[in-house]
Amino acid sequence: MTLNDLIVDKPRKFLLFGGKGGVGKTSNAAAAAIWAAEHGRETLIISTDPAHSLSDSLNQDVSGGEIKIVQGVDNLFAMEVNPKKEFQKYQAAVSGESFNSISPPLPIPDLLTDLSGLTPPGADEALAFSKVLEFIESSEYDLIIFDTAPTGHTLRLLSLPELLNSFFGKLLTFRLRLSAIWDRFKSFFSRGETVRDDSLERLEALKKSIEAASSELSDPNKTSFIVVMIPEAMAIYETERLLSTLYEYEIPVDHIIVNMIYPDIPDCVFCRSRKTMQDKYLKEIQALYSEFNITKVPLFNDEIRGISKLKELAGILFE
Ligand SMILES: Nc1ncnc2c1ncn2[C@@H]1O[C@H](COP(=O)(O)OP(=O)(O)OP(=O)(O)O)[C@@H](O)[C@H]1O
Ligand SMILES: [Mg+2]
Repeated sequence: MTLNDLIVDKPRKFLLFGGKGGVGKTSNAAAAAIWAAEHGRETLIISTDPAHSLSDSLNQDVSGGEIKIVQGVDNLFAMEVNPKKEFQKYQAAVSGESFNSISPPLPIPDLLTDLSGLTPPGADEALAFSKVLEFIESSEYDLIIFDTAPTGHTLRLLSLPELLNSFFGKLLTFRLRLSAIWDRFKSFFSRGETVRDDSLERLEALKKSIEAASSELSDPNKTSFIVVMIPEAMAIYETERLLSTLYEYEIPVDHIIVNMIYPDIPDCVFCRSRKTMQDKYLKEIQALYSEFNITKVPLFNDEIRGISKLKELAGILFE
């Protein structure tokens, strides 16, 4: 199966691009998004890397945490997830503002009224993730491409469904007990006034979304994680780590992009030396990952920036 099959013949709904820092994740993800959109698929590219560079790569502003139309390509939309904004929404969902909305304010200990301090470990990733969940559930786009952060961060993101599930599970039980106590207080002090607290339902819904997203992302007919790497020792180590975690979380992987391969330039001692080094690691990569489809991308003589350069890269990836 070629990379093109993932978009045209056996189209997936989710493609995730990941790998070590600086190896070309954003460039390759953006090139794939342009290619898919040009082949008639309504495509959304989302950056989940807190250090966004999608705007730089597309050479247009897609920042601000909202979906933007990509100029110059039909059917293409882009978004850089804004963890700060998502954090505020999360706090609102978890604290259940309605607890504090009865006047006069009651002398309820903080612990009982304010749950906003209960932040799951890795909250920034969690929030970027909960934003992502919205898109996983939506059927608005034919294809959603994720430009992920460097490996360590992405591995935490992938472990989040499990983590959040147990976190929200505990939180739900806690809220249920709290609600029972609070209901008694309320009916005593508020003289019949009832204030509906829907934070439990919201938590329950978030928990369900997480479960649904996990199952979508582990379905090989829907999802493929594309590992991007360069032919160097450090990148191989990091790829090993990434692959074993993807395996653990049952995220399907069948493609590897080996990027920035040196051209063979006669009379250039520096290039020859780099190329000899890369050849050694290319052999190693081919032996290690023989079960994967490997696509090689040469080092361009310029940076890959803007739609037309990205189209050039797409030509190499998909043709
Ligand atoms: N094949 C290539 N030839 C030349 N330059 C490249 C190639 N691939 C990527 N680049 C350039 O290398 C830089 C890093 O690429 P990119 O931003 O895609 O990597 P990344 O893996 O997303 O980085 P980060 O980990 O910082 O998110 C960019 O300036 C990009 O234009
Ligand atoms: Mg990037």
